[in-house]
Amino acid sequence: MSSTEGAPQDVIPAQLLKGQKALVTGANSGIGRATAIALGRAGADVVVNYVAGREEADKVVEEITSHGVRAMAHEADVSDEGQVVAMMDHMVQEFGTIDVLVANAGMQRDSAFTDMSLAQWQKVLDVNLTGQFLCAREATKEFLRRGVVPEVSRSAGKIICMSSVHQIIPWAGHVNYAASKGGVQMMMETLAQELAPKRIRVNAVAPGAIKTPINTSAWETAEARKDLLRLIPYDRIGDPEDIANAVVALASDLMDYVVGTTLYVDGGMTLFPGFATGG
Ligand code: BGC
Repeated sequence: MSSTEGAPQDVIPAQLLKGQKALVTGANSGIGRATAIALGRAGADVVVNYVAGREEADKVVEEITSHGVRAMAHEADVSDEGQVVAMMDHMVQEFGTIDVLVANAGMQRDSAFTDMSLAQWQKVLDVNLTGQFLCAREATKEFLRRGVVPEVSRSAGKIICMSSVHQIIPWAGHVNYAASKGGVQMMMETLAQELAPKRIRVNAVAPGAIKTPINTSAWETAEARKDLLRLIPYDRIGDPEDIANAVVALASDLMDYVVGTTLYVDGGMTLFPGFATGG
């Protein structure tokens, strides 16, 4: 638990994902890190993908293996096709298959619109959207090859796309990021429609403001925190474990009939809190 008011992880049933193999991209920090650990707690073997930060990735691996499951770190840039293919090959070689993909790796490169360079636009689209496309495609090939193994899960595979409240909330100064997450929503829904007949479940989790390195400036000073809390009816900033718990639930057979849905985990940020008193 990363704060006294955060989401507990000790309530995760240790058998929930027993025998399943999970890949979490961008798992060396923030939401990815908490998610990889939570999947391990739930009994899954986990590949901890990272692009930079081997030491942090190794620490995540250590924490996961302390729960009696297997874990390994794998460096790959999710926007590089060759590296994604190699990562999936490595995972299948080591763990035999993949049951759960958490396409989490993401970044911000913020800028006022007219100052935004093509490189800033492109990088965010490459990592946040193309990266999810590549990882989902390679995972799906393996899901289809293997099919359903009833002792492991009712579905042939689960893809959980890490989106954001900004898949529906426009965000000035962040057009690249908001466009990438809007793209994630439609990609996720289209894949869900296309793959459901193959017993593959594709869903998304859309976090609100979660305390991670991506948005430190939004919560590190008392003033910033006050401004931020105005946007959150539930009146607390989220912890990475809040998202991790939602991912574990979505990945499990408890949610076997949930297909093509975005689960907003945002303390009510998408409820138009400005209208609580106005309008
Ligand atoms: C962004 C954060 C932001 C949050 C709420 C997330 O998707 O990455 O920087 O604080 O949305 O606006």
